[in-house]
Amino acid sequence: MVSFGHSMFGERSSLLRFHERPVMAPDELILPAETFADVRRQVVGVARNSARLRAAGQHLKRGLLLYGAPGVGKTHTVRYLMSELTGTTIVQLTGETLGGIRDACSIARTLQPAMIVVEDVDLIAQERDHYDGSAPLLFTLLNEMDGLDEDADVTFLLTTNRADLLEPALASRPGRVDQAVHIDLPDRAARHRLIELYRGALDLDLSRLDGVLDRTDGVTASFLKELLRRAAVIAADRDGDGASGAATALEVMADDLDQALADLLDTRNAMTRAVLGFQE
Ligand SMILES: Nc1ncnc2c1ncn2[C@@H]1O[C@H](COP(=O)(O)OP(=O)(O)OP(=O)(O)O)[C@@H](O)[C@H]1O
Ligand SMILES: [Mg+2]
Repeated sequence: MVSFGHSMFGERSSLLRFHERPVMAPDELILPAETFADVRRQVVGVARNSARLRAAGQHLKRGLLLYGAPGVGKTHTVRYLMSELTGTTIVQLTGETLGGIRDACSIARTLQPAMIVVEDVDLIAQERDHYDGSAPLLFTLLNEMDGLDEDADVTFLLTTNRADLLEPALASRPGRVDQAVHIDLPDRAARHRLIELYRGALDLDLSRLDGVLDRTDGVTASFLKELLRRAAVIAADRDGDGASGAATALEVMADDLDQALADLLDTRNAMTRAVLGFQE
């Protein structure tokens, strides 16, 4: 896993940085089954079957756009894919280092199978290219995507929470992105799974779970994660230094969970909700 650092003079991003690959189990990513299957097939499925697909004359290069509201798990999905694709070179680019896109493509071609990740592409949609001042940086990215050989086992993985900003550019350059996958807000079943995931080792009373699921329609995954954390803080605070030491699981009562949710939904917490990605 590499990204580009800035060179000493700041002009060209040329120095490579090496990163530890994230480790993540598939069950840490809560997505609707079809969404998960779509993403996995395009990225992991093609990588696994590259030899057969190539022999059958199919192109391997692919572009995938993950889009959806902030906090629904786009970055989380990227981390999952990185962790799953242990045999794949990952090249991470950001708006600041996108000037290195040509180098990134050449690294990806040389060290394929590879995946080039550009998160939050909307941030560069409007920005101008350093080399060709008239072209938006996004077009440079799309042109480079187009320029790479079709049979290179390279995935371009892009993410955005502003699909509306990207749509015209992508529509005017068809074929660069093969699939756009919408990462939606978690439905009731997904919210339930998220609560189970983020309860961790908490001794959590879920007797009033139904009410919590009712009142969290429209929240993001990151909101639910924060909800559990708050409930734990409230429980620990109520418990004082008291009975349960670090050895026993923290007991979170239904009241603690309700209170945490009421706090987060309180009008005074509008800004907190906004930063957690909750759409009013
Ligand atoms: N689908 C999910 N399953 C499990 N956990 C999730 C999921 N979505 C989000 N989370 C949790 O919420 C955190 C924030 O989500 P993430 O950074 O992936 O959002 P994002 O979609 O990339 O948002 P942004 O548009 O702001 O970049 C994650 O680190 C993870 O802990
Ligand atoms: Mg993100």
